[in-house]
Amino acid sequence: MCGIIGFTGLKQAAPILLEGLSRMEYRGYDSAGMAVTSPEGLLQLARVSGKVAGLYDRTENGAAFPGACGIAHTRWATHGAPTEANAHPQVSMHGRFAVAHNGIIENFAALKKELIEKGYAFTSQTDTEIVANLLEDSYRGDFQEAVEKMLARIEGSYAFAILCADHPGELFAVRMNSPLILGLGEGFNLFASDVTALVSHTRRVVYMDDGDYARVTPDEVALFAKDGSPKALRETRVNISLAEAEKGGFEHFMMKEIFEQPEALEKTIASRIRGGEIVLDDFRLESESLKNIQKIVITACGSAYYAGLAGRYAIEKLCRIPVDVKLASELRYEDPLIDGRTMLIVLSQSGETLDTIAAMKECKARGAKVLAIVNVAASTIARLADHVLYTWAGPEIAVATTKGYTTQLAVLDLFAVYAARQLGRLDEEEYAAWMQKIRELPGLVRKALALEPAMADLAVLLKDAEHVFFLGRNTDSALAMEGALKLKEISYIHAEAYAAGELKHGTIALLEEGTPVIALCCNQALLEKTASNIIEVKARGAKTIAVAPEGAAQEVLASCADRCVFVPAADDIFSAMIAVVPLQLLAYHTAKLRGCSIDKPKNLAKSVTVE
Ligand code: G6P
Repeated sequence: MCGIIGFTGLKQAAPILLEGLSRMEYRGYDSAGMAVTSPEGLLQLARVSGKVAGLYDRTENGAAFPGACGIAHTRWATHGAPTEANAHPQVSMHGRFAVAHNGIIENFAALKKELIEKGYAFTSQTDTEIVANLLEDSYRGDFQEAVEKMLARIEGSYAFAILCADHPGELFAVRMNSPLILGLGEGFNLFASDVTALVSHTRRVVYMDDGDYARVTPDEVALFAKDGSPKALRETRVNISLAEAEKGGFEHFMMKEIFEQPEALEKTIASRIRGGEIVLDDFRLESESLKNIQKIVITACGSAYYAGLAGRYAIEKLCRIPVDVKLASELRYEDPLIDGRTMLIVLSQSGETLDTIAAMKECKARGAKVLAIVNVAASTIARLADHVLYTWAGPEIAVATTKGYTTQLAVLDLFAVYAARQLGRLDEEEYAAWMQKIRELPGLVRKALALEPAMADLAVLLKDAEHVFFLGRNTDSALAMEGALKLKEISYIHAEAYAAGELKHGTIALLEEGTPVIALCCNQALLEKTASNIIEVKARGAKTIAVAPEGAAQEVLASCADRCVFVPAADDIFSAMIAVVPLQLLAYHTAKLRGCSIDKPKNLAKSVTVE
């Protein structure tokens, strides 16, 4: 995820900014940049595609950039490829304003059009350059007024560091749905999106609220609320070590990423539901071409494949187009029945999985139109696809995917509702209702995170198990597979998923006294069926744990399962996204009790670029 830092003081800014960027490198990024006002009031700018080390070289470790006030950024590409031109800070046309930005400006297209009509020229594909030019356009000599006018025009999520060459020593920091923290010092002040970039300079911090903006000078930080009213600085002390700060105070990246899911989902969903419509920016297949599609094939590996299995239900239910979900490693050698009337959806967090790339090439060669759902911008899969929809999950560091999987589900759900509407399968009212259901998902995931202590408790039941079985029907069977994979990957316990109806055809023979069986009962229509499977396995000695939505299921399950975990209720076709949260937490706590290497499990890699 992108990182921002701003510094103003009495010392040279550039080395401090570079050090701050290095501290934020662990978050992942693909380009970097820095802008510093010189003592003569000139804006000095350096940007590189690639690593922060390139920025050290370009500026002679900062020595080439004199001046005590500046901003810097590491960028994880969203709008536009990770090139030097698209790196931040972005500068206004007349070179007066420099802006580093995390987040997305949702109304960028309309603003850009307006600015072009006024004669502004753009040199990047970023939405950030629009912000720099909006500042220039609003500027009448008063920096703060220009910032306020710009903020009144933009919609979206953002954190900004803003520098104006006419006002040396003065910076603005703005926060809206993207983190930004002020750091208070003696003779200097700074701010950053990540506490790691602050703690080597100061332990005194102020957490900004959404909508807040701050005017930062070497000896003063003036904080304002969204409506322009001044706010008192509520100072806190950070006591965490640098290593802890990198993990956001969590013990492992996996846990940090589990807890980042509401924010990642919000980013992935919110900017795509605008003005009562689903807007899929990078998907330009008109309804006529969609109508020509006879089937959809989803292909992927690992958890992404399981996301495809779960997403299939939403697409088939809403669009009534047949969907096949295929393992990429199989599809590539299948001589697949794919032609120009097939749409291929490729799912990949990294965008670099070798088998997925090979399957995609194979299907493309047979004429399939390819939609890639990818997390890493400009990755191989993103570049090879006809259409790309990004999961804006930010970098995922733990090998076992969590937010990568749930954001893939979010994009599949958005796609299902979008395509159903294009195909004329949803009337206006139904369309609005489905959009509303999707919009609620990040909040439901946030509520599901409250199950953490309960899952830590349940992990005690699993920690010494030799085998664990996951059961479910329909959407729950897809979820069962992801649940079993999470547990296997990080706790090294043998776990298997079965469609609950298949139980009698084999698995039931494996049950012994005390074998844990996790029954997923989110599909409300099939609740009674799965409940009778719980009774069957219990009669053979299994220790049963039911995972189900709050509401009607509670009464049914309380009488048959040994333990119950209730998650916030969502529509059946979206339920995997919510119910996977306790499964992730259960896997995590079980692995922790067993002393496993959670973020880097043995024998596994984050990105599998070999066959
Ligand atoms: C590896 C990872 C999994 C991931 C799979 C597919 O096995 O450990 O977490 O689901 O690759 O990766 P992709 O980047 O294509 O989603």
